[in-house]
Amino acid sequence: MKKVFIETYGCQMNVYDTDIVKSVLLKNGYQLAENEGEADVVLLNTCSVRDNANRKVYNRIHNIKHRKNGEPVHIGILGCMATNFRKQLLENPKLPIDFIAGPDSYKRLPQLLEALNGSAKRSDNFDVTLSEFETYSDVYPTQTGGVNAWIAVMRGCDNFCTFCVVPYTRGRERSREPVNIVDEARRLASEGYRQITLLGQNVNSYVYEGTRFAELLEQVGEVDGIERIRFTSPHPKDFPRPLLKVIAENPKICKQIHLPLQAGSTRVLDMMNRTYSRREYEDLVLEIREVYPEMVLTTDIIVGFPTESDAEFQETLEVMETVQYDSAFIFKYSERPQTVAQRKFPDDVPEAIKTERIVRLNEVQKEHSLMRNRAHIGQIHEVLIEAEETKKSSEEIQGRNDGNKIVILPAGDYGTGNFVRAEITAATTNVLKGRVLSVLDK
Ligand code: SAH
Ligand code: SF4
Ligand code: F3S
Repeated sequence: MKKVFIETYGCQMNVYDTDIVKSVLLKNGYQLAENEGEADVVLLNTCSVRDNANRKVYNRIHNIKHRKNGEPVHIGILGCMATNFRKQLLENPKLPIDFIAGPDSYKRLPQLLEALNGSAKRSDNFDVTLSEFETYSDVYPTQTGGVNAWIAVMRGCDNFCTFCVVPYTRGRERSREPVNIVDEARRLASEGYRQITLLGQNVNSYVYEGTRFAELLEQVGEVDGIERIRFTSPHPKDFPRPLLKVIAENPKICKQIHLPLQAGSTRVLDMMNRTYSRREYEDLVLEIREVYPEMVLTTDIIVGFPTESDAEFQETLEVMETVQYDSAFIFKYSERPQTVAQRKFPDDVPEAIKTERIVRLNEVQKEHSLMRNRAHIGQIHEVLIEAEETKKSSEEIQGRNDGNKIVILPAGDYGTGNFVRAEITAATTNVLKGRVLSVLDK
């Protein structure tokens, strides 16, 4: 029972947690398998945010159990489905899983794995307790390399947007001590990482004994070797003005904000419990653009929330037209167990209409992305080289600009983790292309 393979679904927080799990396992004498075929145990770090994320996992459980080599394998479920679907998972005799660990229980994994050798009933082999304190500040995650490393600065969410399962799967908000975060950043810098992305379900809520998120960003900005700092996500309801100032003025903090809109209609936003109006959101965008006109803005949008009318959907389009996002993740509303929306609002927008709406928004977003990307042609950007070849060609290398846009450059001996100045010469919806002007010394 020594070789473990982990497969990760869902958001960056789960990717980060997988790296925490790896560290816990390695410290306790387990090995990480390269693939599921050679593993004694397969862990699925699951997501529950939309129904299709769930379904993927159910399918995977079956095909792992019946893997090609025919050898027995243990399956453990981690992550957000663990908390939310514990009963369904453990009590379904047709689901061949052996144990479950929720997002705050990863330090208990060695015991749960140990129990597989004994006679424990599978229905008893779980730990999904949510903690008010666990931040894994004493576990240094085993990250996979590259130029960017992640640091979870807070966990959980107290916002209870009515559509969202996260507050139920990840529990209450809690922040990590700044010194501890800065130490992790230093260690990452010493390992050669050049960029750090700070993670939290709502980073605006970050607070540790009086230190707020803007100050934390500045403290991380002082770490030598780290040249770029990103974060995700802030909530539009309480975007701190000092934060905007720090982003605009601190050269290490990237000029890019992910600002989830969710819907354009104030009535729908109210039903979602987002606690801002369309007007307040648009005013915030105006203010951001006043302080920093070139700010790259991205968003999340849900179409077909219960009772959303055509006119209200049009309002989402209008906000998109006003803001002109650089990119957007657009989702169909998916009813989630336990949420207020599930209990109170029937999922009454027909699937065909949800499809129509998502197709429309994706079309509009494509146009905007292309326009925003084309506007960069002729500009000079600092590009952090992240790969010495692209998926398509070994004649090209790939990096990202400050706004997190992919920049493709002709191959050259610049070295991953270094910065170049590049002139942008072409653009598509998804990438910029350019030519290198000089190598930067940082
Ligand atoms: N904490 C982050 C969001 C995490 S979930 C934030 O508030 O910014 C990522 C996105 O998934 C959300 O912004 C929302 O657009 C989408 N989402 C969440 N629950 C959903 C649901 N029930 N149906 C469809 N999309 C959903
Ligand atoms: Fe979900 Fe809202 Fe919390 Fe984001 S802020 S995780 S959408 S409840
Ligand atoms: Fe992330 Fe999915 Fe959980 S989006 S927080 S892994 S429900």
